[in-house]
Amino acid sequence: MPAKVVVGVQWGDEGKGKIIDILASRADVVVRAQGGNNAGHTVESNGQVYKLRLIPSGILYPETLCLIGCGVVVNPPSILEEMDELAKRGIQFDKFYIDPRAHVVMPWHIELDGLSEKFRGNNDIGTTRRGIGPCYMDKSERSGLRMYDLVHPEVFRAKAKPLGELKNRFISEIYGEKPLDVDAIIEEYIEYGKRLAPYIADVSVLVYEANKQGKEILFEGAQGTLLDLDMGTYPFVTSSNPISGGVCTGTGVGPTMIGEVIGAAKAYTTRVGKGPFPTELFDAVGDTIRERGNEFGTNTGRPRRIGWFDGVILRHAVRANGLTGLAVNKLDTLSGVGSLKVCVAYQKKDGTVLKNYPASLEELAECEPVYEEFPGFDEDITGCRSFDELPQVCKDYIAKLEEVCECPIKMVGVGPARDQNLER
Ligand code: GDP
Ligand code: IMO
Ligand code: MG
Repeated sequence: MPAKVVVGVQWGDEGKGKIIDILASRADVVVRAQGGNNAGHTVESNGQVYKLRLIPSGILYPETLCLIGCGVVVNPPSILEEMDELAKRGIQFDKFYIDPRAHVVMPWHIELDGLSEKFRGNNDIGTTRRGIGPCYMDKSERSGLRMYDLVHPEVFRAKAKPLGELKNRFISEIYGEKPLDVDAIIEEYIEYGKRLAPYIADVSVLVYEANKQGKEILFEGAQGTLLDLDMGTYPFVTSSNPISGGVCTGTGVGPTMIGEVIGAAKAYTTRVGKGPFPTELFDAVGDTIRERGNEFGTNTGRPRRIGWFDGVILRHAVRANGLTGLAVNKLDTLSGVGSLKVCVAYQKKDGTVLKNYPASLEELAECEPVYEEFPGFDEDITGCRSFDELPQVCKDYIAKLEEVCECPIKMVGVGPARDQNLER
């Protein structure tokens, strides 16, 4: 059976967790492919709210195999804390595995994330300071520690000691800060490794075998297309590949396994952290959407920047991910905000109209959004349970988004719960 992928198509927080949870009810396997505990995925199920950082959003279904692929960076105390919290709420981990090739986020990565952000001053990226970038740096530099190492104490000691000492030289000699206690960190992490050892298994093999047996596989994206290291607003991006191509390298499967790619979007746009955001709103409308949509980071609590729906970035996402459909969330949040705008193109100062997202921040800085305006709506749509029940203005708005994105909209979200998702 062809596998499905869910990716974020804006700057993260599009409601991927909700869509994964809905689709996971029909899946046998859910797999995370990239990112780390910089993600924050919210799932509302039976009136309970779960905030997941590293654990795949399929975990709420006891029969579902939940996997963390080789492309994910794992923070051991963070994942253990998450597992403990979920276990207290009755969630079981007997079908949960982490690939031995996944890299380990170490305390020096977190320290160096903060120090390099401080060094950048006003040009900081606004990272989550979870050590994600420095961990992927070590992976690319071929000096990283992997989950296999973590669960083999002698291997871990031998590799971690010189690495930690080198990082301490960066911390003290370059940044002038207090070095970390490498020996204490190693012993602490070996204890985490003992707890995580039962959960290590080759994810590439597990997914391949499940696929051969005709099982339904769902790949869970973290972050979003515009945060992609290659296709995003570089350098204001994360250090992994959230686009659908990242699923293959991040889990060890080939592209022929994938049949469907669903992009999660919001009916407007949000962004946490710094970087360009052409349709950003700085007025009362933006504040209203932030308050109504409770747009504060799931992970760091930071207020999210708000803007109108941007068709240019959506078309970029449709192309870069090979989207077969879109899920548009949070339409309900736009109720009562007045007339709605959709960005259909960018226009440069010299009058040139751009239909495609530019590669450089310099070119982007010259662009102004070209908007089309639509009547808003005041109805409370959170009780709608089918697309037909939506007011006509909402249907027209969705039809316009579909036309601008050049991609079918298959789901519309009118609230955070499982049953507030209207399938078309
Ligand atoms: P993710 O990172 O893409 O999984 O998204 P987050 O969980 O960080 O942020 C999305 C937020 O929107 C969460 O609080 C969800 O519960 C909520 N949400 C998702 N879909 C809808 C929707 O259709 N309407 C409303 N009002 N909230 C939604
Ligand atoms: P989910 O999966 C929104 C942003 C950070 C920052 C940039 C780099 O919940 O959609 P990093 O710590 O990754 O080096 O930070 O990326 N960022 C996210 N923004 N949602 C996320 O994940 C994010 N993960 C990282 O705010 O701008
Ligand atoms: Mg999130």
